[in-house]
Amino acid sequence: MDPYALPDISAAEGLEPIVLAQNEHAYPPSKFVQEAVAAALNKAQLYPDSDCTELCAAIARVHALNPDNIVCGSGSMELMSGLMLAYMSAADRILMTDYGYLFMRTLARLVGANLDTAPETGYQVDVDNVIAAVKPDTKLVFIVNPGNPCGSLLHNDEIRRLRTALPQDVLLMVDEAYAEFVDAGFHQPLFDLVEQGNTVITRTFSKIYGLAGLRVGWGYFPADIRDQLRKVINPGSVSLLSQVAARAAMLDQAGVAEARRLIATQRDYLTQEISALGLRVVPSHTNFILVDFETAAQASAAFEFLRNHRLVVRPMGGYGLPACLRITIGTPPQMQLTAQTLGAWRQQSNG
Ligand SMILES: Cc1ncc(COP(=O)(O)O)c(C=O)c1O
Repeated sequence: MDPYALPDISAAEGLEPIVLAQNEHAYPPSKFVQEAVAAALNKAQLYPDSDCTELCAAIARVHALNPDNIVCGSGSMELMSGLMLAYMSAADRILMTDYGYLFMRTLARLVGANLDTAPETGYQVDVDNVIAAVKPDTKLVFIVNPGNPCGSLLHNDEIRRLRTALPQDVLLMVDEAYAEFVDAGFHQPLFDLVEQGNTVITRTFSKIYGLAGLRVGWGYFPADIRDQLRKVINPGSVSLLSQVAARAAMLDQAGVAEARRLIATQRDYLTQEISALGLRVVPSHTNFILVDFETAAQASAAFEFLRNHRLVVRPMGGYGLPACLRITIGTPPQMQLTAQTLGAWRQQSNG
């Protein structure tokens, strides 16, 4: 099988790249997080708590959840792989949507499962299409909300409708890696669905919490699935320093609100600037935008132009969207440079 494709994040020769290709957070961890990590260093000779007890307690407190049903892993990717290993066998069937997170395709290959995709409509998950694509042997339905790479948001009422329409023995997995970027008014938590026993929800500290390098994800699982999952993920896969950092970040919800505001401001700015160039931008609820350049040739020319000006964005051919580029929202100077550079490219390619 092919390895999971990571992007080339180098700029043109000799230039220091500004990487806007991996949906990393624009800012380093807060002082609060850095101090907690520094203070925990003198315990680094010890193995970490494999239950992540204090981290789970902090997550449970903030989200009003039962801490016993939270499992943390080395990134939500580890939880996704663990779930696949625990739950799926060769020839089982997974259903995802057209542009759902590519890592699921790698996992399907890894466990030998068949993979079906339901068409999206206008870069948006279409619940009716998902329901129509369920087959008698579909075992898992995987939805990313808000979506990557499109950034679009499915109202949680739609996810509830999907759950109701799915057979009871089909597991629904909702990947909410970008949920914290959504304004509270749009996004009503879905965690109560987990209590029905056939839905799991994963989240991450890699995006709004800005800890991608420390590798911490978490999920909310029905008790029996949690027990199976814990058998297959490595005990101690979340390091002591990662647990401390994630706990401090979770308890700083004022910091999260501020990050959401800063990213939304820059996202609106970049969306407006790029739309003014006559390019279609998919309305985003995340820390990235998807820009449609109409043809693969245009997208690839814009990619190279940006790269020659240090800006490394993400080509979307691997997602079946070769006419699009995905741009991570960064700091105000980075976003100004991106808007100016795309403006210059547009002028040159029109002229
Ligand atoms: C939709 C989605 N899910 C999960 C992840 C992986 O997150 P983590 O860093 O927690 O493994 C990403 C990372 O880009 C993502 O885009």
